[in-house]
Amino acid sequence: NLHRSTSDILKGKKVMITAGPTREHVDPIRFFTNHSTGKMGYAIAKKAAEWGAEVTLISGPVSLEAPKNVKLVQVDTAEEMRQAVFEHFKASDVVIKSAAVADYRPAIKHLEKLKKQDGSMVMEFERTTDILKQLGEEKEHQILVGFAAETQDLEHYAMKKLQSKNADIIVANNVKQTGAGFGGDTNIVSIFHRDGSKKELPILSKEEVAEELLKDIIDLVIHKAQ
Ligand code: CTP
Ligand code: CA
Repeated sequence: NLHRSTSDILKGKKVMITAGPTREHVDPIRFFTNHSTGKMGYAIAKKAAEWGAEVTLISGPVSLEAPKNVKLVQVDTAEEMRQAVFEHFKASDVVIKSAAVADYRPAIKHLEKLKKQDGSMVMEFERTTDILKQLGEEKEHQILVGFAAETQDLEHYAMKKLQSKNADIIVANNVKQTGAGFGGDTNIVSIFHRDGSKKELPILSKEEVAEELLKDIIDLVIHKAQ
């Protein structure tokens, strides 16, 4: 009986999940962000909590309610997300990074509203910290799961991210595919493991994707304990 065994394995396990977009501010009025709605991460948080895990959900700005029995930590920027993640990392057993974290932020955050000028404008951006990569560098006992949103060469980039981020699992989707990616209630993902195995899933609800992912994580937890 799957449900029974899953709840046994995750019971009391500390699972940290990041979800949603980040906002990188230009001035008090404007910011850069992306199309993430948080649905995938919130679905994982809900399922993990139902299966008995102690869930901390670190969320960028989204319009979703926190699932039941989940500790919600709200953040805004990539830097705030990084700080919140590292506050909870040591105590975590599993970390699932489904957030769409900005790779760049405006190099200057203006304290007053930027006024328009004649002609075009050039803005400089600087890199944010790659949170997942830093987690991979500091990983001890934790199982580390990353996401990869791609528009081409899914497998190639997913395998590269597994290595470069020292992750145990990368969940990859092609966001150009109808029924996958941002906003919708469905997703089409492939789950890549460090041992080279992969699970290619059909179009599923985000809740079902969450279940499939958590089952793979449970297998890893069992494997690690042996
Ligand atoms: N990620 C992160 N911190 C960042 C950027 C990404 O933790 N500053 C995490 C995401 O949460 C996701 C994984 O890294 O789990 C992959 O994100 P993705 O944007 O697909 O890959 P990148 O490594 O940022 O590479 P690129 O955007 O160039 O494809
Ligand atoms: Ca990125």
